[in-house]
Formats: sequence, C-alpha cells, structure tokens
Amino acid sequence: MVLQAAPSGNIEARITSLLARMTLDEKIGQMSQSTSMKTPLSEQIKSEIRSGRWGSFLNAGSPQDRAEAQRIALKESRLGIPLLFGRDVIHGYRTIFPIPLGQSASWDPDLIEQAARIAAHEAFADGIRWTFAPMIDITRDPRWGRVAEGLGEDPYLASRLAVAMIHGFQSDSLSSTGAIAACVKHYVGYGAAEAGREYNSAWIPEGQLREVYLPPFQAASDAGVATLMPGFNALNGVPATGNLFILRKILRGEWNFKGMVVSDYTAIPEMIQHGYAANTTDAARKALLAGVDMEMVSTTYFDHLKTLVEKGVVDRRAIDAAVRNILRLKFQLGLFDQSPPVLVEPLAPEALEIAKRLATESMVLLKNDAHLLPLSKSNGKIAIIGPLADSPVDQMGTWAMDGRASDVQTPLAALREKLGDARVLYSPGLKNSRDLSRDGFKDALQKARMADVILLFLGEEQILSGEAHSRAFLDLPGAQEALVNEIAKLGRPIVTVVLAGRPLTFHETAAKSKAILFGWHPGTMGGPAIADLLFGDAVPSGKLTITFPRTVGQVPIYYAQLPTGRPASSSDLGIPLGNPVNPVGYTSKYVDVDFTPEFPFGYGLSYSDFKYSNLRVSAPRLRMGGLLTLAADVTNTGAVAADEIVQLYVHEDVASVSRPIRQLKGARRLHLRPGETVNVQFPVTTKDLAFYNQKMQLVTEPGTFHFWIAPDSVRGMEGKFIVE
Ligand code: NOJ
Repeated sequence: MVLQAAPSGNIEARITSLLARMTLDEKIGQMSQSTSMKTPLSEQIKSEIRSGRWGSFLNAGSPQDRAEAQRIALKESRLGIPLLFGRDVIHGYRTIFPIPLGQSASWDPDLIEQAARIAAHEAFADGIRWTFAPMIDITRDPRWGRVAEGLGEDPYLASRLAVAMIHGFQSDSLSSTGAIAACVKHYVGYGAAEAGREYNSAWIPEGQLREVYLPPFQAASDAGVATLMPGFNALNGVPATGNLFILRKILRGEWNFKGMVVSDYTAIPEMIQHGYAANTTDAARKALLAGVDMEMVSTTYFDHLKTLVEKGVVDRRAIDAAVRNILRLKFQLGLFDQSPPVLVEPLAPEALEIAKRLATESMVLLKNDAHLLPLSKSNGKIAIIGPLADSPVDQMGTWAMDGRASDVQTPLAALREKLGDARVLYSPGLKNSRDLSRDGFKDALQKARMADVILLFLGEEQILSGEAHSRAFLDLPGAQEALVNEIAKLGRPIVTVVLAGRPLTFHETAAKSKAILFGWHPGTMGGPAIADLLFGDAVPSGKLTITFPRTVGQVPIYYAQLPTGRPASSSDLGIPLGNPVNPVGYTSKYVDVDFTPEFPFGYGLSYSDFKYSNLRVSAPRLRMGGLLTLAADVTNTGAVAADEIVQLYVHEDVASVSRPIRQLKGARRLHLRPGETVNVQFPVTTKDLAFYNQKMQLVTEPGTFHFWIAPDSVRGMEGKFIVE
C-alpha cells in the first residue's frame, strides 16, 4: 500500500495510524541506517528494502540506485514507507564552496544561506534529502582537523551562520522542491577534544558548556533544524551518544527539540571502547534511553532492541517515540509522495557565481606591506610557485565527495586566463605540501629569477585537515619553508597565498612575504577568486573567525578569554619566538614567545581604509528588560569601494562570574564607496548581556559594561554604559 502525502497538521495522526500497523521488526528497521548500497543494487539489498529492514541509507548508491531503491520501498514493501537518503553535503555537492571555516570568515549569513541552498538543490536532484551538516562545534584548537568543518571559535557568530545554513538547506518548508533536512553536529563539545587529538574526550565545566558550546545548537533547535547528531566524544566522562544530561535534559527537556537524533557512524557500539557500555546490548539500551532515534551503520538496535523489548528491559513506547521522530521527518519531507525527478543542472552559472563570491568574501588579507597588492594587471612577469597553485583536489578541501577535480578552476588556470600565458611562469617546486624533496627547487628558482613578482601558493593538502586529521605541528609541512628561504634570497617581492583547512603557523614565511592572503580551501571557484583579489578586480574583505597562534605552544588561544589576576602588559610584548628571554615580572605570558596571537579573531585587511568615529550610546543607563542602541560612523577613507565587517564587543567589569575580556555581540558587513560614511547601529537588550551564574541560571547582572565598535577583537572605539 502506498500512503498519500498528508497536510502537516495531520502528520501526527498519520504516524499514529502507521505505527499501529507496523511490526516491531519494521519499527526497528526504520531506526537503522546503512551505507551498504552498491551499484547495481544487489538482490539481497532489494529484498531487505522490501522487508523494511532499513529506514535510511547514507553516502550510498548512485542517483539511479537511490531512485530504484525508493521505488521498491514505496511500491513493494508492506507499508510503503519511503527510505531517507542522507549524505555528507558539507560545503557543496557538485559545486564546492569554501570549507565552512572559510565561509565563516565572510561573516555573510545571506551568502552562506544561498550557498547551502544551491548545495541542497544539487543534492536533491540526485535523490538526497538529508545532509549531515552544518557542523557547529565551537573550535578553539587548530590542531583538531575538523576545525575546517566548523564555523570558528565564537558562539554568537557560529549561531548566526548555522541558522543561515539551516535555512539554506531546509528552505521555508522541508517539503519544498530542493529542500533537504539539515543535521547539526556534533552534539556537544567534540571541538574541545583534549590536546586537539581526534576522538579524544572533552572536559567542559557546565558554565562554559552553556555559554560557549551549546548556544549554536540551541539556536539551531530554535530555528527548526530537522535532525541532530551526537559526537563521537565523551563529554565529562560520558559518551555523547549515551549522555542523558545533554540529550534528554537539555536538548529534549530545556529546548523542547522535536527533531530526530541520529548516532554518528558506529558511535553506539563505540561506547564499549569508551568503557561506558558492557556489550552491544548494553550500548543499544543506553543509546535508546538517551534518545538516539536512528543508528548509523552499526546494528546494535537491529540486533538487540527486539529482545530487549520482549524481555521488558526496554519500553515499547521508547521505540515508538523514536520511530515517530523518524516518520515525522519522512512525512515533513514529503517522501510518502513520489515526487517527479527534478532536473537541476549541476554547476549552473549562478552556482559558480555564488561559489566565486563566497570564496572571494572568505579570503583574509593578513599582510600587505607598502600596498604591494593589488598587483598591476598590465605589466610585469609573474612567477607562480608552490604545490597548491594547481591542485584541484586540495583546493576543494575536506568532505567534497561529489566535487570533481575537473570542475575546479585553480589559481594557475585563473591567472593564466587573466594575464595571458606569456606573463606567467609556473613551477610547483614541490610535488605536494608534504614533499621533502628539493629536486624541484632548481626549476622554481629559475622561474622566480625571471619574474618581477613571485606568487607562492603554500599551505596544506586537503587530507591534512578534516576528520581524523589532527596535527601536532601547525607549520607549513614538507620542504615548503626551505623553498621560501631559497626564493627569498632572490630579493624579489613575494606574495604568499596560503590554502589550508586550519590556521597554520608560518611566522618566518610571513616575515619574508610582503603580502599574505589566507585562502582556506576555497572550492571550485577558488582560483578565479584569488586571481581577482590579487589583481584588484575584487577587494579582500574576509576576517578571521578563529585566532591564529604564533606557535602551537599557545594553543588553545582565543579572543574571549577570561581576565587573569596578573595580566600581561604592553611591556611583555615582543618576546621573540622560540628564544627564551630572562623572565621579567610575574605576569601571564610566555618567556619564549609574545603572548598575543599572530593574527587575532576578527582581523583582516582591505585595499581600502576605514575610519571609525562618532561612537554613541542611545542612553547612558539601561534598565533591566530594556534596550539601547550602540552606534558609530564608519567611513571608507580609501580610494576603492570595499566591504568592512564591523564588530560589536562587550565586557562587564564586575559580575558574580568573571566575564571574558571581550565577547562578540553583533556584526555587520558594510559595502562602502570611497568617501562614504555609514552609521552602524547595534541594538542591545539586557537579555543579550546575560550569562550563566554559579547556580547555572541565565542572568543579566547590573553593572558597568564596556563596549567596542571595532574592526577586530583587539582594536576599536571604546565606550561604556550601565545596566541597573
Ligand atoms: C562520521 C563523522 O563524524 C560525521 O560527521 C559524518 O557525518 C558521518 N561520519 C557520516 O559520514
């Protein structure tokens, strides 16, 4: 029997009636997700689908396989319950956008939403209705490879951008053409893996958990995200997958999350390795108890839940609740209707245009001595050197399984197109970012010697970031530094473009470069974006959303740190890297490196200049429950039209819990013509100033608040107001 689509108000009744007809086996089948769908569909998988063995598949099958599997589920299974096809559509499907960390550096929710919508449409056309994105783990440790997948270190910004991505994926309604369900992950604290080592445990005091790590998930829940995935990590000793505190008390209890929870890949039986479950039966019971509705890949639910129900260990109602969450999503997505295939051209011109714009906006100009950039389009020979100038796969970054190298426009190709072949001299110098051989140096030096300007394309390969790719060293790997040393000896101006999945430490290379553009892994259109930026057809505007350390020894380093009793002072600045000095004074610093970051959160240069002036606060005092407006004028004092990302930070002087030295509370991306002034206004309510007190109550405490309207997290105009 094939069910017809129901209007949403009717969904709960439809589920109730369906549940009443389902066998326990069929219910547990719905709770099971598999990845084993091969081309062509095997007779075994077909018969499993007919029998209701699986509710979902991930990262499996071709579009044709998925269509056929869905036909079988709808037409040939007893109850006609559709399958749900999930996939890691993380930063694009065929059109690959910059890695999420790069996207976040655009601080542009609208553009990020458009990119997610394009990814959703392209995936939808291939039968995908669920993505395991966005990853909204707050990340403050660049050793962790998955910083690439997240939206940076700040909960306010990550929350805003997460909601934008969710809207992009899900549209206004999950049933609309092109909409796919989003899945926020990894709940919660995975980004705080100790020592930045993948899958390691996280220890997060509840106050910090609630203030830093939970807000993006709460914002996503409030925004109606369809699904959520607990992390692989143990949080404060309890694996997230079986963690009643985060999944039951906070997610379902405090936030009233109505969506579906899917485990991560084999995370349920991994609770045995964690030492939290005795065996697979115990693991299944604990995950279900915590509220994990669907099991990804492993089969502890299928293997044990039936017996557990029959023995009375697990309540049937717990199974029904989980299946209800799964069926609700399938109804909401309109999967019970057989929708006609939608033909979306992958890599449509608009998709490529958005990919290029987002890549352009995401790149951060870190240094530009004597305004070397933009370079002249009309004269001079350009040497393009380095392992990442023409490396399409690396340029796409982690999680780009549907991107194709042949679609990617590399910097080399884009620069040749912009400048003409005759002006471009190319030599990779190294085979890849980890190459230790100096065999390619000779050719690189020869080309560099013939050029007026040298463009170095350095960084890390795609496989050095992402899942299970933690690094203990954040330097440019391989012989890249050695290559820079040799090239620097030529005395020609060097522009370094770094392509990477995380902040890197490249102090020496930075010193030898006149200009540095940090491009992340920028995706399909990264090359044209870089070419436009280097030659002035676009103006850099990205700003860092994660602090860049001077050395890995400073990690974790982030802007919203608490004050210390013995803060470092300006006399502690400038301590040389790696070279212990005679320690002077008892302040919070290092004796062998400046205590400040190499590049702070919020930082990024432009080809224009901006003046901040006329700081205003609408009233000096703010009553509890009230609202005031903080404002400043921002003027483009330079010669070119440019975007400026204006940031609002606050700090409360005295509170019952020590407050971060600065906290981001607002941000605007402005477009300003030369000479133009915009009055930027940030409304602030006392609710925006709340924090968790020692009793874990969300409170705003009266007191003096400092605020900054600022170009980054360390500078800016400072004012104050009082909350009474
Ligand atoms: C494991 C990863 O942790 C998760 O983020 C991803 O969505 C799943 N594998 C599925 O590929």
